[in-house]
Amino acid sequence: MDPATPLEETMGALAQIVASGKALYVGLSNYDGKTLEQAAAILDEMHVPFIINQNRYNMFDREIEKNGLKEASGALGKGIICFSPLAQGMLSNRYLHGIPEDSRVRTDGRFLQESRIDKPTIEKIQKLNEIAKGRGQTLAEMALSWLLKEDVVTSVLAGASKPEQILDNIKAVENVTFTQDELEAIEQISME
Ligand SMILES: NC(=O)c1ccc[n+]([C@@H]2O[C@H](COP(=O)([O-])OP(=O)(O)OC[C@H]3O[C@@H](n4cnc5c(N)ncnc54)[C@H](OP(=O)(O)O)[C@@H]3O)[C@@H](O)[C@H]2O)c1
Repeated sequence: MDPATPLEETMGALAQIVASGKALYVGLSNYDGKTLEQAAAILDEMHVPFIINQNRYNMFDREIEKNGLKEASGALGKGIICFSPLAQGMLSNRYLHGIPEDSRVRTDGRFLQESRIDKPTIEKIQKLNEIAKGRGQTLAEMALSWLLKEDVVTSVLAGASKPEQILDNIKAVENVTFTQDELEAIEQISME
């Protein structure tokens, strides 16, 4: 979203892409709930098929719950594809016992800095990992299942540095049902 450009202009650019046959559908990234509603109304008027939002969403990052995007997407019948669903790898077994040399923290400091792997965060990761174990999942699988359980979440966009991670992550679809106790425990740990 570019706050310096009128929404009509941005939506007009998307409309042109569809009208010229370069795309069948459009998606928006990083809008908040209020702006999404305005954008969707403009796209409807222009008869542009808008179907999906791409936003950061994971147990540790609840911004779309706070800025109205999640609620507005559901109300408008638009999907959400979540990026950074593993919080850059923090919601996995990566940092349970320190910082591995081949991890994103060490190999690419742009998106995840060492300072974010602090003691309270490691404690949260360890507690969440215990819940995942109880469900027969890895923490990465549970983090993805936790997103996929939501009707409004159409898909997750997980990154990977190794083929095994992809094979692990796709197993998330095997169990997207959570008990009330599990949900409450996840809420308490991830939000504390
Ligand atoms: N629209 C936007 O503004 C926007 C912004 C950001 C990203 N994106 C898109 O979203 C994609 C995903 O974002 P992301 O890479 O931040 O996602 P992420 O899924 O939160 O983090 C991916 C990292 O988690 C670790 N990982 C993945 N699966 C694992 C597993 N099963 N076990 C242990 N560790 C595992 C790997 O870290 P290691 O490298 O340490 O192994 C991997 O590089 C990006 O590639 C990008 O295309 C879009």
